[in-house]
Amino acid sequence: MSQKAVSALRALLGETHVIASPSDMAPHLIDWRKRHTGTAMCIAYPQHAQQVSQVLTYCRANGIRVFPQGGNTSVCGGSVPAMDGRNIILSLAKMNRIVEVNAGNNSMTVEAGCVLADLQQAASDVDRLFPLSLGAEGSCQIGGNLATNAGGTNVVRFGNTRDLVLGLEVVLPDGRVWNGLRTLRKNNSGYDLKHLFIGSEGTLGVITAATLKLFPKPKSVATALLGFDTAQAAVEQGIRLQGMFPGELVGLELISRSEFEISIRHGHHLRNPFEQATPAWMVLVELASPEAGTAINDRLTEVLEAEFERGAIVDVVVAASEQHRHDLWRIRHNVTEANGREGMGLTHDIAVPTYLIPTFLTRAATALEARYPDATPVVVGHMGDGNLHYIAMFSHEFWATVVDKPSFQHELSHVLYDIAAELDGTFSAEHGIGALHVEEMSKYKDDVEVEIMRQIKRLFDLDDMMNPGRVLPS
Ligand code: FAD
Ligand code: LAC
Ligand code: ZN
Repeated sequence: MSQKAVSALRALLGETHVIASPSDMAPHLIDWRKRHTGTAMCIAYPQHAQQVSQVLTYCRANGIRVFPQGGNTSVCGGSVPAMDGRNIILSLAKMNRIVEVNAGNNSMTVEAGCVLADLQQAASDVDRLFPLSLGAEGSCQIGGNLATNAGGTNVVRFGNTRDLVLGLEVVLPDGRVWNGLRTLRKNNSGYDLKHLFIGSEGTLGVITAATLKLFPKPKSVATALLGFDTAQAAVEQGIRLQGMFPGELVGLELISRSEFEISIRHGHHLRNPFEQATPAWMVLVELASPEAGTAINDRLTEVLEAEFERGAIVDVVVAASEQHRHDLWRIRHNVTEANGREGMGLTHDIAVPTYLIPTFLTRAATALEARYPDATPVVVGHMGDGNLHYIAMFSHEFWATVVDKPSFQHELSHVLYDIAAELDGTFSAEHGIGALHVEEMSKYKDDVEVEIMRQIKRLFDLDDMMNPGRVLPS
């Protein structure tokens, strides 16, 4: 049966565009952090939207479940198929053409399989900025970013992926192709369907192309790493900097000392930039300006000196060169990889209103200390968005002694999610639901909201063939 499906898909896409050997498929059947595995009959590599349509039509007619995959960098088990059922992976990797970069219209039209870093470069080549930026940008694809509505480190200034989109092309589970590749800034003609597909994690259809917004490329950038004794001081300073540099502040990241030290310990050639003791909390701040020269750096330095003088900040490192700036960001972007080396990190992608971050941190630390004394709180996050990656880090040795790991993780996570919920926050800020957080949907979301989502899912995908078991329970 499986061989019949493989042959049929090869007839549609060409012999070499369907792979079925276990060794070739292996890297696609396990996620980036090596925590989720799945099975598939084959991986299909369509080359254009019509082929995606043919694959979905065939799969629908034959009861085959389709799991779209981009760069496979999901951190919530969204990118690998389930362990059961007749599954295929639909990879967008061969659909990676940049169709048009239009500097005059500040837009670009690209296929879904384009790697994010290549799009940043294409924008830069015409003196424009595509501002979406995240640690996985060298391998994640724009289709995956759109499907998850990815956040990253520039959201405080430019918004989430959703805010960077003018139009989409989507293939629906029944094979219809919706061409919504518009370049308009205004278009109030009925429901805005693109926003339904952005963030739907491949459960409603396959995103095959997008038209994205471009922005003027900054002519100068200033970056600094600030040290604080308390998270309260860090958040207050961050909010003050937002007020002082409106329009220029593009990044505002929070890092705990525990996370900073892990990143440096496991980083390749990373070094601690502080000459004195590493502060308890750090904020990485970045400003961007349309003016060339050092003016923005001078203004930031002046402000930080004054804040240091009044005792608000306990240490400051201002990037003195492009290399220095790059090194500071490498410490930040290395965290996920370094955490994997350090131990077993149970990650929580929560968000609360920004001013309540210190309250969340205090309550979470108290709860962990009382109930999980073997956990070290490790925190990194997009402070400007109220989004924390709150990690309960355990040593590999301790983790090996935990008998029922899923229950342990579930109980611990719900302690933290309950605290976020009490503060009007969320259990999933930017990584999405994937396979990992499906249960939390019914516990933490409004019943009416979940029921509307189910109705939408049924409208597009009555047979539950697209990414079953992701976002909503099957
Ligand atoms: P995949 O992981 O392959 O897939 C993700 C989901 O999208 C799956 O449900 C998949 O089925 C679906 N999908 C993929 N392509 C399509 C398509 N064309 N059409 C329909 N559905 C599709 N995330 C953030 O938000 N912010 C961060 O700062 C961030 N930093 C990260 C840093 C590291 C080191 C790593 C490993 C991950 C990070 N992530 C971050 C998570 C991840 O990179 C993002 O979720 C990213 O958007 C996923 O893109 P991808 O191409 O790898 O998609
Ligand atoms: C980050 C990922 C984990 O912000 O979202 O590094
Ligand atoms: Zn993040």
